[in-house]
Amino acid sequence: MNRIRIAVQKSGRLHEDSLKLLKDAGISIDNGREQLKAASGNFPLEIFYLRNGDIPQYLRDGVVDAAIIGENVLVEKGEDIIMAEKLGFSKCRVSLAVPKALKYSGVEDLQGARIATSYPNTVREYLSKKGVTADLHIINGSVEIAPNIGLADAICDIVSSGSTLFKNNLKEVEVMLKSEAVLAVSPKISSERDEILKKLQFRIQAVLRARN
Ligand code: PRP
Ligand code: MG
Repeated sequence: MNRIRIAVQKSGRLHEDSLKLLKDAGISIDNGREQLKAASGNFPLEIFYLRNGDIPQYLRDGVVDAAIIGENVLVEKGEDIIMAEKLGFSKCRVSLAVPKALKYSGVEDLQGARIATSYPNTVREYLSKKGVTADLHIINGSVEIAPNIGLADAICDIVSSGSTLFKNNLKEVEVMLKSEAVLAVSPKISSERDEILKKLQFRIQAVLRARN
């Protein structure tokens, strides 16, 4: 039988709410012993639990047909991937932040600055539109510590509650992007599977309407 393969974040902030959305859409997920993959017993769907940053490549290659993923990840490395639906949860911003004590008067202050980030493409594009060139240091986690250890003058990362910035004595100075969880679709999805996806999307839309 033809099933759609959908990627869900393996661990992290989107994981729980993604599964909750599918559950609310009436899709039961039988978690077998094989924990990186699960099938639904009542809908032609398989779930693959994957690392966030890997999902755009899986979509691009058609290894999965769809994914529930942060819009921020798509903007960073998935320009060719279709965003089918905004899902209304995991809302956050991708922002630039500098040490609280620093006097900041505008993005031009970041000319030549060392910026630590996991979102190099997003930052580069944002700054280049403003005519600013910076020295980007790509790190994969705990980005907010960089200014305190002398690695960077500024950072760019996800801001949700703002508590990580606060704890690290940083202040948000530019919001580059507002993001939330989205349903993303592979450019290689087959027409048969696209039919199934449409059914899933229809159910998701009903859930989102009921939530509002
Ligand atoms: C994420 C993100 C920020 C923080 C934002 O980090 O990278 O650091 O959450 O959330 P807040 O504004 O509510 O504090 P996470 O804790 O997932 O860890 P990581 O950066 O090491 O991946
Ligand atoms: Mg972090």
